[in-house]
Amino acid sequence: MIGHEIQTAAYLFASILFILSLGGLSSQESAKRGVMYGIVGMIIALLATVLGHEAEGHVYILVAVAIASLIGVSLARKVEMTAMPQLIAILHSFVGLAAVLVGFGSYLDPETQTLTGATHSIHVVEVYVGIFIGALTFTGSIIAWGKLDGKIMSKALIYPGRHAINILLLIVTAILGVLFAQAEGTDGMIYLYIMTAIGCFIGVMMVMAIGGGDMPVVVSMLNSYSGWAAAAAGFMLGNDLLIVTGALVGSSGAILSIHMSKAMNRKFVSVILGGFGNTSGSSKAIEGEITTINHEEAADLLKQAKSIVIVPGYGMAVAKAQYPIHDLVQTLRKEGKEVRFAIHPVAGRLPGHMNVLLAEAKVPYDIVMEMDEINPDLPDTDVVMVIGANDVVNPSAQDDPGCSIYGMPVIEAWKAEKVIIMKRSMSAGYSGEDNPLFYKDNSEMLLGDAKDSVDKLLSYIKK
Ligand code: TAP
Repeated sequence: MIGHEIQTAAYLFASILFILSLGGLSSQESAKRGVMYGIVGMIIALLATVLGHEAEGHVYILVAVAIASLIGVSLARKVEMTAMPQLIAILHSFVGLAAVLVGFGSYLDPETQTLTGATHSIHVVEVYVGIFIGALTFTGSIIAWGKLDGKIMSKALIYPGRHAINILLLIVTAILGVLFAQAEGTDGMIYLYIMTAIGCFIGVMMVMAIGGGDMPVVVSMLNSYSGWAAAAAGFMLGNDLLIVTGALVGSSGAILSIHMSKAMNRKFVSVILGGFGNTSGSSKAIEGEITTINHEEAADLLKQAKSIVIVPGYGMAVAKAQYPIHDLVQTLRKEGKEVRFAIHPVAGRLPGHMNVLLAEAKVPYDIVMEMDEINPDLPDTDVVMVIGANDVVNPSAQDDPGCSIYGMPVIEAWKAEKVIIMKRSMSAGYSGEDNPLFYKDNSEMLLGDAKDSVDKLLSYIKK
């Protein structure tokens, strides 16, 4: 057991470590350090809570932590990098559920029944708001998991009068809140139950109304909600560390959501209200013909090129092609060619997906460029190699208002002298939109699994 002062000091130290952790995650070089700060902070936080003077039943808590850690470690070891967004979404749902359960527990706690005056009012508001945010985070995250995992259709579910129904439900929630605050003893439970059901319903409908192309913003928005749900639980439990941590997650998630909306040229409010990823118009018919090349011809194009830009996408992650790509880049650079990577902010399936994979394969950071940095250089580039990317190089985003990703900034691969597109078939990208880039005169399709293709290219280039 530790005293109150030691626990407060431990919480303060853990909070500082969490802030340093977030700071570390802002660049690839310091990301590992950032994760370590987070792990140490979390261990200190857990120990300080479990050993704290007010905690009872230490044994049960430790057993629960041990079981949860085992499940967590085995899940995280098994999960493929490409399935990470689904895992994150389902973990957010646990935070939401925890906030709901903490809210019920806190309301029924005999000690809180004795609160009076302002303290009582503050407590009921904490419980009510905490459960509401928790409930919508819980169901919203489950739907996001289903959409990302392909278990629920990714198309936006839009029905007439949606906004009016949501506003009506919010008004009912507010009225129930007033009745809840006036209830004596634990009589308010009935209002909590109804409000929880409404919160769960709003969570489902809110995420169902968001189209597949906007899911990145939704995942980061739910991350933010789960932070606020944790902060609300912190208020209910009187736990300062949980309040600080929840606020850090909530605010950083909100900032990330706004940045991602900007990167996709969406209005944040419109994304969270849903309906994007759906357009009333239909896409333009694509003109031109698709031409394919074989690996030897593609290798010749690379041998002749002086400047090469590689655009990786989700398919690179699926094929785990980042390792042979690293070898290919090393070989080409040794031959005096300028080789750089162009990274779209929502390439892959989670923020920073491509950066993480390239860092894992030890690709030097200084040749990994952001979309805005590289786009102006593409007209002077000899060859752009698109590896398993599709939506992020789709010209329709610029010139077809009927296309669901219209308005999203894209990597302008078609401006290069030659474009080699490596994928397995002619199928569409995540948004379900066809890609006119494949039909351009200067584009060549190199069909096949990205890893196999890169291996073959490498062997031809080394010949
Ligand atoms: P996508 O548009 O999903 O296209 C990936 C392409 O990779 C597919 O067309 C697929 O074509 C190809 N592919 C799959 N497996 C392959 C393999 N083994 N070898 C070679 N190619 C393979 O990817 P993108 O361009 O990276 O765009 C990302 C999309 O996901 C955007 O629409 C974005 O909004 C969305 N999204 C992003 C995030 C975040 S935060 N990044 C989260 C959720 C959704 P084939 O089947 O023909 O091979």
